[in-house]
Amino acid sequence: MAVATLEKSQTSLETPQKGQQQVAPHWHAQAKEIQKYGTCIADMPHRLPVDVREKMVARLNQLLADSIQIRDMYKKHHWQVSGPTFYQLHLLFDKHFEEQVELVDTIAERIQILGGVSIAMGGDVAEIAQVKSPPRGREEVPVQISRLLEAHKIIMQDCHDIAEEADKLGDDGTNDMVISDILRPNELQSWFINQHLVEMPLILDK
Ligand SMILES: [Fe+2]
Repeated sequence: MAVATLEKSQTSLETPQKGQQQVAPHWHAQAKEIQKYGTCIADMPHRLPVDVREKMVARLNQLLADSIQIRDMYKKHHWQVSGPTFYQLHLLFDKHFEEQVELVDTIAERIQILGGVSIAMGGDVAEIAQVKSPPRGREEVPVQISRLLEAHKIIMQDCHDIAEEADKLGDDGTNDMVISDILRPNELQSWFINQHLVEMPLILDK
């Protein structure tokens, strides 16, 4: 893998000129990327061949993009929720957001562990995500929840598919991570969210 080199003007090893501040940080560094998105480092200490890792990285980047989308959707809904269930949903949406932050980190680090490059920035994520961004404006609670359930459904299906492929290809680490760390929390979150769409009158007719 090529190592990035700083431009000559950005190196800090030159002797400062008279009157020049020695403590000024050289922060305009620009250089070539050290690893392109979509590539995988060939020589890694674990036994998985590079073609297997490339396949898993591609699948995991899809899962990562969709997880970043649902993470951000939870925060949007946390801010914009309204109505009689405001307080509990405001808190629940933020709890799920915090949990998705952890899930996103787990997936991204698995990609790096496999020698790949994890997708990260919102614009790039939106381009490849299956979970589509909601409109910018506020929406009613049932619409917010329906969007979240759709997103969970996509993510959980991805988890099953990735786990199956990882199992076939011998990537035990990805198989274990996807089932234990990603699928199960998504199942739990979707259950909590789903129950808000059950029509349950406060007083049942006799
Ligand atoms: Fe908040």
